[in-house]
Amino acid sequence: MNNPASPSQKTVISIINVAKSYSRSGQKVSVLSGLNFTATSAQTIAITGPSGSGKSTMLGLLAGLDQPDQGTITMDGLDITLMPQADLAAFRARTIGIVFQQFHLLQTLTALENVSLPLEIAGTKGGILSMKAAEAEALARLEAVGLGSRASHLPSQLSGGECQRVAIARALVVKPKILLADEPSGNLDTKTGERVTDLIFDLVRKDGTTLILVTHNEDLAKRCDHRYQLRDGQLHRAP
Ligand SMILES: Nc1ncnc2c1ncn2[C@@H]1O[C@H](COP(=O)(O)OP(=O)(O)O)[C@@H](O)[C@H]1O
Ligand SMILES: [Mg+2]
Repeated sequence: MNNPASPSQKTVISIINVAKSYSRSGQKVSVLSGLNFTATSAQTIAITGPSGSGKSTMLGLLAGLDQPDQGTITMDGLDITLMPQADLAAFRARTIGIVFQQFHLLQTLTALENVSLPLEIAGTKGGILSMKAAEAEALARLEAVGLGSRASHLPSQLSGGECQRVAIARALVVKPKILLADEPSGNLDTKTGERVTDLIFDLVRKDGTTLILVTHNEDLAKRCDHRYQLRDGQLHRAP
């Protein structure tokens, strides 16, 4: 299935004929089969679908956190299914931001340290970025999500909405080409969820990031350029 994209737009995600199954008590359970999908730069795409339909599985494959049984997944021009683990980790750190429903912040690190971490992994290793510059960049991102004054707080000292804003700052601090968001407002009350989602849209539009947003919320899905429903292992265009 192809998105209607103008030829000038660059394809940043391509899934070709991907299958993924899990084995459960000795039985093979097919989750994705013959999955095809493309996304171009700066597109926002919503994925909806029943619980258990494979939305998180699809995002896990896109993030290179899991391997498909068959098929090709190309992210920013590189086939991640062929990449050695070490290269994949470095590629992911530079190219893909991920926001989870459960925030997944490191509890013993402050907000600022959580946001600095991806820069340290992606940048300072090669001496590209000094620690000081990484910290300044991370603070700027925390300010962009409205949490500049909470930089020294631990996640346990922040509300759910604030934790998710830290997670968003962390996901976007390296200016990745792609942001994968797995029900980012799923653990938040409606109002806080809306604010967090507004923030995601603001930031990806500013940076031209491609957004894949998994959500149960039809109103949020409608805010994306394109909508798909995951059903029976495949993506179907949603109205
Ligand atoms: N690591 C795993 N091992 C076995 N089964 C799994 C695993 N991860 C997911 N599944 C199964 O795959 C199906 C799709 O799961 P998931 O991708 O989490 O769906 P969704 O995010 O749409 O709710 C479910 O039936 C789930 O139980
Ligand atoms: Mg899920």
